[in-house]
Amino acid sequence: MPSSRLKSLSVTLFVSLSLPPWAVQAASPEPVKAVHGMVVTAQHLATDIGVEVLKNGGNAVDAAVAVGYALAVTYPTAGNIGGGGFMTIRFKDGKTTFLDFRERAPQAATKSMYLDAKGDFVKGASTDGYLAVGVPGSVMGFEVARSRYGTKPLSELIEPAVALAKEGFVLEEGDINAFRGRTDRLAKDPAAAAIFLNDGKPFAVGEKLVQADLAASLSSIAEKGTDAFYKGAIADQIVKASAEKGGVLAKADFERYAVRELEPVKCNYRGYDIVSSPPPSSGGVIICEILNVLEGYPISYMGYGAAETVHVMIEAMRHAYVDRNTALGDPDFVENPVSKLTDKAYAKEIRGRIDPFRAGVSATLIPKGFGESKETTHYSIIDDEGNAVAVTYTLNGSFGAGVVAPGTGILLNNEMDDFTAKPGVPNLYGLVQGEANAIAPGKTPLSSMSPTIISKDGKPFMVIGSPGGARIITITLEAILNVIDHGMNIQEAVDAPRIHHQWLPDKVFMEPYALSPDTRKLLSAMGHDVEIDESWTIWGQATGILVGGESLADIEAGGGARYNGAVDSRIGAGAARGY
Ligand code: GLY
Repeated sequence: MPSSRLKSLSVTLFVSLSLPPWAVQAASPEPVKAVHGMVVTAQHLATDIGVEVLKNGGNAVDAAVAVGYALAVTYPTAGNIGGGGFMTIRFKDGKTTFLDFRERAPQAATKSMYLDAKGDFVKGASTDGYLAVGVPGSVMGFEVARSRYGTKPLSELIEPAVALAKEGFVLEEGDINAFRGRTDRLAKDPAAAAIFLNDGKPFAVGEKLVQADLAASLSSIAEKGTDAFYKGAIADQIVKASAEKGGVLAKADFERYAVRELEPVKCNYRGYDIVSSPPPSSGGVIICEILNVLEGYPISYMGYGAAETVHVMIEAMRHAYVDRNTALGDPDFVENPVSKLTDKAYAKEIRGRIDPFRAGVSATLIPKGFGESKETTHYSIIDDEGNAVAVTYTLNGSFGAGVVAPGTGILLNNEMDDFTAKPGVPNLYGLVQGEANAIAPGKTPLSSMSPTIISKDGKPFMVIGSPGGARIITITLEAILNVIDHGMNIQEAVDAPRIHHQWLPDKVFMEPYALSPDTRKLLSAMGHDVEIDESWTIWGQATGILVGGESLADIEAGGGARYNGAVDSRIGAGAARGY
């Protein structure tokens, strides 16, 4: 019997002898259970729209498209049609694919566009206003997904989003949370302020958010397809606003936008097949690299939150983020060493460099030549046939660049900040990156987004992903470890407090309560610099589905619910729902 199972069995026995049955669940609520389909998103109205599509005979891809458009209305901090993202699909026959609809740099972009005459980085230039905007990909991404793998007409999938935008929806506490602290930023752009502020003030619970211009833009996409966005009036309005406000977007940038269908990154962790995002995301590669390193340690035996477990996690993260930040970039522009980084032999080499008793020093790992949102959202869907879809898409920062092209209602991204504006200078997420991710016309900035699907013995096992900027990778990774190594159910796995290390800065960030004072002392004695990070939004909001039971023990025992959904308790407005 595997030690994880032994451990969970002994925990179950102990708990069932000493506590009433309703107390068996730890701090988290029960996962949501369903038989035919499951949709887990960051906003409950979008979840309901996805479930309705499944109930009406649509497949998981149809539901993913409808949810993508719905979140653009109900979750404006990250849901979008003015940004971009990734979709990982695992079909019922076990085949997998990946759609890259991330933003591309405009043709007029240059390597030094965010530097002043002295070569210094101009703060805010890559995050605020039109110069920060990459050419959006979401509309084309959803349409490629729908036309290749969906079954429903576009108009049917957009219609619920149009209705929500036109008629408005009542804001709840969870929705309002996403607007908190954004008033000054939104107030700077009159078109954004007119929609997302209420007479210049933040919206309150119970008030309605109506988005008439967005409804009109969505209707024109429903009617004319992607041309409405990339070749028609919407592109014209965005380009006009960009030209007037210091941006460099051109109509040709929109006309030439194309989605890439790529082979996902694959690896195997303790018998589980992981399928995740390839470059231009670093997500799948780095998750696989870290998992390969950790596979050499008895994580389950060492235990969740134990100093020795956290130490090897930190060291694996430290080594993998060096590779993330220096070696990876857009595959059309750089040679990505994916095979090397996901090779078990390379992981063994890294383990050989990890001192079991001492923290590594990031400064000694700087490669030769290097000198030169959190506000994202993830949703997980599975349908009755077993088709699974994981989508992570984003405007980058909260409300993107904070600008709406007048007349469109469309918030625009600030994804250009994910490029290396200047090697060695940290971006929005504190990532210190290198040449492989330098800006070039038509290039896609390196991402951390990690929509991931895991299978076991040829059957779907888990759908998982999260927002969180540079932490997306470690948040997704920790949810996987929590299920596979620590025997948590899917809700506990996404709720459990997190730690993060990204090579530079050389610090271990911990969510409040992630580590006990005793554990922190042990880690400090090993040389780790542990800092509590209380900024709650940075720790992401994972949304996951587990198939065949709510936990590994439940699956192994047989008879668990078919689909078990969990929306991170950190998300106020989200919901896991099925039928
Ligand atoms: N904008 C966050 C990411 O793509 O990693």
